[in-house]
Amino acid sequence: MNKIYIEGNKKLNGNVLISGSKNAALPILFMTILTKEKIEINNVPQIQDISIAVKLLKSLGAKIKNKNKILYIDTSNINIYYAPYHLIKQIRASIWMLSPLLMRFGKAKIFFPGGCDIGFRPIDLHLKGLIALGAKIIKKENCIIAIAQKPLQGKHIYMEKISVGATITVMSAATLAEGLTIIENAAQEPEIIDVATFLNTLGANISGAGSNKIYVTGVVRLRGGYHKVMPDRIETGTFLIAAAISKGLIICNKTEPKYLKNVLKKLSETGANITIGKDWIKLDMKGKIPKAVNISTSPYPGFPTDMQPQFTLLNSISQGKSIIIENIFKNRFTYANELIQMGAKIEVKKNYIICKGVSKLSSKNLFSTDLRGSATLILAGCIAKGITVVNNIHHFKRGYESFPKKLNQLGANIQYDMKYI
Ligand code: UD1
Repeated sequence: MNKIYIEGNKKLNGNVLISGSKNAALPILFMTILTKEKIEINNVPQIQDISIAVKLLKSLGAKIKNKNKILYIDTSNINIYYAPYHLIKQIRASIWMLSPLLMRFGKAKIFFPGGCDIGFRPIDLHLKGLIALGAKIIKKENCIIAIAQKPLQGKHIYMEKISVGATITVMSAATLAEGLTIIENAAQEPEIIDVATFLNTLGANISGAGSNKIYVTGVVRLRGGYHKVMPDRIETGTFLIAAAISKGLIICNKTEPKYLKNVLKKLSETGANITIGKDWIKLDMKGKIPKAVNISTSPYPGFPTDMQPQFTLLNSISQGKSIIIENIFKNRFTYANELIQMGAKIEVKKNYIICKGVSKLSSKNLFSTDLRGSATLILAGCIAKGITVVNNIHHFKRGYESFPKKLNQLGANIQYDMKYI
């Protein structure tokens, strides 16, 4: 039963605990290949993408135990430099195996990775970065082989486009290359800071992560260590939207407000009352009708593309007309057709949408096609009139820990088969 049933007309109120960041935990897990010593990673979200990453590491020979969101990882027995296609194709993040396998074995083979269907997602910048450090890349049918005939050499690399994934690939390879690597026009996402902090804990020498210029001085080897994954800023934003669309009050706990500045600014513009503490954010929309806001996605510190679908939902039931421009991924509006089925007044153009707020959405049988889109449809179901069905729930399971359960604790009524969640 790859579907859930959602009763609408709900106000969502209360406290929610934010899980560890998917987009930080995934690269961190793969970077454990860079060392042969034991690693403990705390606050790992219990989501499908992480299960696949764990399976990928185990397929290489790693030993991994999971106790209360702490992964105990021993990669000392990894003895192969390639992973099976059926796992790699399931997550885009599997591209992050390429660089650590290359640095560990002098060669690596991976298949072209999978992930969300949100448009063509090239990996040229990852490969160009490794080539700049001295790797040879061979593309053969559906796989990539990377070879380091001699130790990789630090380089001054200008990234021709800002890419989170490619910045992490180059930064991780450079930790064990000879000499200094400078990554200019680097992505500045907080998850990159978290990965750099993890690698530095293992003995790497990285500075500047979080700015657009990262310096990595190669070291001979990395040791073991402990790291706690940062909170998930996109999960946080998604629950804040849950409060805003249902005219409720939600407090997100164990989060990191400083990484959501742009999202909070836009939420304030809608009329929400926002209060922040050291590790919590409260959004109060009680007794108010939200005002529509214009959004244009861009790399961090700009407005995150991963919050674009949720804001479209908010705009679709807000007062006024709005425009949302998507500048990162070409095909990130498929969820909008489902919102239109529910009565939203949305016009989908090439890379932007125009939205005219309506007072109510109505329930429908919906099909999700990607991670953030599916979370958006579930939230839409919570406030629509009637019972909404969301199919293809495997999408939200990829990236949201216990999403229906957390929403139910806030007052939603989502029915699902435990076997599938
Ligand atoms: C990561 C996040 C994703 C988020 C995105 C942008 C993970 C697992 N995923 O994805 O949730 O939406 O950052 O914040 O962390 N590009 C190229 N060539 C490349 C790589 C990227 O042209 O080699 C392009 C992409 O098509 C896209 C843009 O660069 O248009 C940014 O992509 P990138 O930052 O690399 O996103 P991901 O790392 O895939």
